[in-house]
Amino acid sequence: MEKNALVIGASGGIGRALSLELEARGYGVTRFSRSQDGFDITCEDSVATALGRLDTRFDLILVASGILSNGQGPEKTLRSLSAKEMSDVFAVNAIGPALILKHSVKLLHKRKRSVFAALSARVGSIGDNKLGGWYSYRTSKSALNQVLRTASIELARTHKHLVCTAIHPGTVATEFTKNYSKHQTVRPPQAAVHILNVLDNLTPEDSGQFFDWAGKPIPW
Ligand SMILES: NC(=O)c1ccc[n+]([C@@H]2O[C@H](COP(=O)([O-])OP(=O)(O)OC[C@H]3O[C@@H](n4cnc5c(N)ncnc54)[C@H](OP(=O)(O)O)[C@@H]3O)[C@@H](O)[C@H]2O)c1
Repeated sequence: MEKNALVIGASGGIGRALSLELEARGYGVTRFSRSQDGFDITCEDSVATALGRLDTRFDLILVASGILSNGQGPEKTLRSLSAKEMSDVFAVNAIGPALILKHSVKLLHKRKRSVFAALSARVGSIGDNKLGGWYSYRTSKSALNQVLRTASIELARTHKHLVCTAIHPGTVATEFTKNYSKHQTVRPPQAAVHILNVLDNLTPEDSGQFFDWAGKPIPW
């Protein structure tokens, strides 16, 4: 039987590649994005309306949206931190995925495996933070990780086969990284293969954890 996937942020570099790779793997893919459908992850009405119209049960729900900054660029110092920038970044990276979770629980299978995954970032790891900087982005991804961990505990009571996880996609050549990446990047299609291979191998025992693109756990 055909599997179904929902990709939020399907207009993004990684989201688009994930949607195409899922189709290549035989999934029926439902896509949402802000630029193409007006789906704004920061607006609960937008999320509730779009997800409320769906009656599919999804094997995979992937949140691939996110921002590094809302204009000023990621902060190098405390001096450059602003409440507006920080709350904008939190709205997209942490609150948005929480709203998706809230309104998509009914779209997950109860009696068989479903995966809910959001693209987080290694820089959201507190244990792995050796460089500092990027206050808004880092802390928004740490908050996202906590949302996923907390939801994994709640949902395990009703959805015993669910995997709810945070994934670091690697450093991927997209709009997102074009001004900031000093690291070697992978192309989005390759990143999509990595991410889906990791998700394919996770079991409900892995739910509530944070993995990198190679399937290695990342410290919180
Ligand atoms: N690229 C990397 O190296 C890298 C590394 C670590 C983590 N990540 C994470 O991976 C995810 C995807 O990154 P990417 O490289 O694919 O970035 P991207 O090409 O810039 O795509 C970002 C996506 O987020 C969507 N988005 C932004 N604000 C939104 C909003 N308010 N409502 C709905 N959608 C919104 C964009 O939608 P529209 O364009 O339609 O507005 C776009 O689809 C992000 O969460 C990022 O933090 C990326």
